[in-house]
Amino acid sequence: MTKYADFYRRSLDDRDAFWREQAGLIDWNTPPRQICDYSNPPFARWYLGGTTNLCHNAVDRHLKDRPNQTALICVSTETCTEKTYSFRELHAEVQRTAAMLRELGVRKGDRVLIYMPMIAQAAFTMLACARIGAIHSVVFGGFASASVASRIDDAAPKLIVSADAGSRGGKVVEYKPLLDEAIRLSKHKPDAVLLVDRGLSAMNVIADRDHLWGALRQKHLDAVVPCEWLESNDISYTIYTSGTTGNPKGVQRDTGGYAVALAASMKYIFGGKAGETYFSTSDIGWVVGHSYIVYGPLIAGMATIMYEGLPTRGLDGESNPGIWWQLVEKYKITQLFSAPTAVRVLKKHDPVYLKKYDISSLKTLYLAGEPLDEPTAQWISDALGVPVIDNYWQTETGWPILTIANGVEKAPSKFGSPGIAMYGYDVKLLNESTGEELRGVGEKGVVAIEGPLPPGCMQTVWRDDARFVKTYWETVPGKMVYSTFDWGIRDKDGYFFILGRTDDVINVAGHRLGTREIEETISSHPNIAEVAVVGVADPLKGQVAMAFAVPRDAASVSDDRARLQLEGEVMKLVEQRLGAIARPARVRFVTLLPKTRSGKLLRRAIQAVCEDRNPGDLSSMDDPSALRQITDLVTANR
Ligand code: PRX
Repeated sequence: MTKYADFYRRSLDDRDAFWREQAGLIDWNTPPRQICDYSNPPFARWYLGGTTNLCHNAVDRHLKDRPNQTALICVSTETCTEKTYSFRELHAEVQRTAAMLRELGVRKGDRVLIYMPMIAQAAFTMLACARIGAIHSVVFGGFASASVASRIDDAAPKLIVSADAGSRGGKVVEYKPLLDEAIRLSKHKPDAVLLVDRGLSAMNVIADRDHLWGALRQKHLDAVVPCEWLESNDISYTIYTSGTTGNPKGVQRDTGGYAVALAASMKYIFGGKAGETYFSTSDIGWVVGHSYIVYGPLIAGMATIMYEGLPTRGLDGESNPGIWWQLVEKYKITQLFSAPTAVRVLKKHDPVYLKKYDISSLKTLYLAGEPLDEPTAQWISDALGVPVIDNYWQTETGWPILTIANGVEKAPSKFGSPGIAMYGYDVKLLNESTGEELRGVGEKGVVAIEGPLPPGCMQTVWRDDARFVKTYWETVPGKMVYSTFDWGIRDKDGYFFILGRTDDVINVAGHRLGTREIEETISSHPNIAEVAVVGVADPLKGQVAMAFAVPRDAASVSDDRARLQLEGEVMKLVEQRLGAIARPARVRFVTLLPKTRSGKLLRRAIQAVCEDRNPGDLSSMDDPSALRQITDLVTANR
């Protein structure tokens, strides 16, 4: 048995002993009395009785050995600024922020919704929440009012922390008016709003509700706010993600299990050592930002980079597709974590940008979030001359399910495959309709995980245990098993290949979007009767959203101008409500949509037609002319 195979087996067969050992990677105030309680499946509780704190592990515990070492590096190629905080400085800022949260009434268990650009204060707020036991809920800054409003209603935050604006490609994106509109739309109203004024756009400050970060911070410059010792199963945060319904799910995470899982992944998967520099190009609004911008690297005692800007702009605000490599050189980055789309963007530019900088500090490039195609992996691997490691996971799991654990034993990567099952994950491929386990090489099945999920994975859906059970654990017949909603196959060496989602989730440039949410928004346009949104393969973004809509008034799309006008209106509506990332690439008009005789939309058939594939068995289809209309439209525009 190889060393990793043994490590992996032990994580499942001798679960408690394995995870007891890993618990030693973090600091506990009280050691856990029990490692795993799975007496009430599928709810797993890790490290019962143990008390700890994420902020302590990310910040305070490094004060002894490395107070002056860099902890946080904030780079913005939008405002052309760079700022660095040592662990000591970060500790001070987090305490100030914690004192501000306290002054605004935030207590243990209260929710704090964070709607912010990639600025230092966003990390301070996350860590400050963790420090005092408040539950943060970061909402991606690219979302617009309706998305923010539904998350406010679900999280019911006492406080919202935001900023005047973000910036993208040199264009100011105002957050405050979007937030005000979101609060107007939501039923739940926060007691207070805390705003960072970056001086990018004028803010309409609402008396009695809005507070300015700068002024409040001044009152707490010398704040000393100790870490609250939390029981391991106390909630650290919720993060919303899309699924099959239009309602986003609040993925809820614990404290102790998450801290251990991140510490272990930094050691075994990412090979991160204290004093090194980690750069993840993601955003704090996504799970990668939580695990591998903020908590993971800091827990490992590394410096972490928060980057605001496009991957193609330089520190002077001018075009520079070499910015990442410039940052590698400047900050001696050792691990870089990004998404395949970003690499595909860089691939379009002259590789000479890559050669301009000294990137000898870089040890590994990690890519995740969407399928990594072989040509992209090969290109970047040749260009950088360092290993490129794909890793597959989900918002729900918080850390990789499939990859290579080079920190346990070096193993080769296979381009096109994210890798093998990680320790703690009992990964199976199951037949979708019978639930039978597929053991054969190349047999296609649903990627599923046998419970209990390892530490760090979601505890439940926020305030909705029933939804957690029903959504994730009851989809495979005859078995209580966690479904990832991804199709996969496995080769003879145990390497998995991911073949796409089994549900209506699409993946645009590494961002996970629910097509239902987009459909609901489009349907709210007064002239749209019905709509289907599908994900269609795209060479750059992996997938793009395509909408096929039935207008109420057919005459309103009788010529090209009218069609473009309505398409523009629909796109604008999506952008205003959900945000630009949800905007479909095209909205095309048809007189009816392909459905089964029982009225179910045949999204998969539409998707197949758009991708020039065989739509498969259409015997249940009601009116074949519906799909023909779409085929004609797509073919005419191919
Ligand atoms: O479909 C899989 C795809 O992204 C989904 C999870 O997205 P999200 O919750 O945003 O979490 C991203 C964490 C990195 C998965 O269900 N996905 C993620 N990573 C990969 C992937 N598909 C193929 N290869 C990957 N490496």
